[in-house]
Amino acid sequence: MTFIRHGAAALLALVLVGSLTACAPEPEPVQPKKPAAEQAAEAKPKLAKPEPQPEAEAPAAPAPTGFDRKAHSIDDPMSIWVVGNKLRPLNPVEFEPSDLVPTEGVANDNGQPLREVAARATEQLVAGALDAGFDVRVISAYRPYALQVQLYESYIARDGQAAADTYSARPGHSEHQTGLTVDFDDYGACYLASCFGETPAGQWLAENAAAYGFIERYPADKESVTGFMPEPWHFRYVGPELAAEMRATGVTTLEEFFGLPAAPGYAG
Ligand code: DAL
Ligand code: ZN
Repeated sequence: MTFIRHGAAALLALVLVGSLTACAPEPEPVQPKKPAAEQAAEAKPKLAKPEPQPEAEAPAAPAPTGFDRKAHSIDDPMSIWVVGNKLRPLNPVEFEPSDLVPTEGVANDNGQPLREVAARATEQLVAGALDAGFDVRVISAYRPYALQVQLYESYIARDGQAAADTYSARPGHSEHQTGLTVDFDDYGACYLASCFGETPAGQWLAENAAAYGFIERYPADKESVTGFMPEPWHFRYVGPELAAEMRATGVTTLEEFFGLPAAPGYAG
């Protein structure tokens, strides 16, 4: 009996050891880490067959730029997109902007103010030009109706009306009267002269003014559209969005951009 008891105890001990060994947690096999993308791909259920693909679509039409050509009025003289030309007098013709302010920190020969948005943009543009190595000054900015009368009449007296009409707007038709227009100079030999466009400063302005919201309003080869000889010194604030869109589309005049009639001459 003793043998049997001892034998039973030994058997029990063997069973216990065996079951304990069987319950011991096995170490997890160490998996090398995979890139997250691979892990994500693996997380997707694997399909027996490839998923049916949608039919190939026709090539998409050119994406619309999303530019809203009606975002601002071209008629309201307080709009940054107002278009004044020989066929589009400002309305009223003796319009005066309501938010004229002086320019600050820039040379401004005649001290003429600008509409606030144009004044701030001018300051930035002049600072940008200076950073690029060009010292530019403002020659002319806002001109009230009465001043345009004086200027236009003085040009007629000097050159005759036909000639004056190629470079000076009649009172009520000048975009200087909107407070959004600036004439620049670089203290060089091309003051209000066509060669200003060939000066390094003039070229910098032509290339960079759009980033500050300005366009060269009377470009070369567009006299039949704008009615005025090229004025590479004369820049009109229209806001950076329109200026960028005009550059992107290669349209250089407001008349063409807005689908307005060319304005080579006055109606009457
Ligand atoms: N020189 C431009 C055309 C003006 O008189 O407004
Ligand atoms: Zn001008």
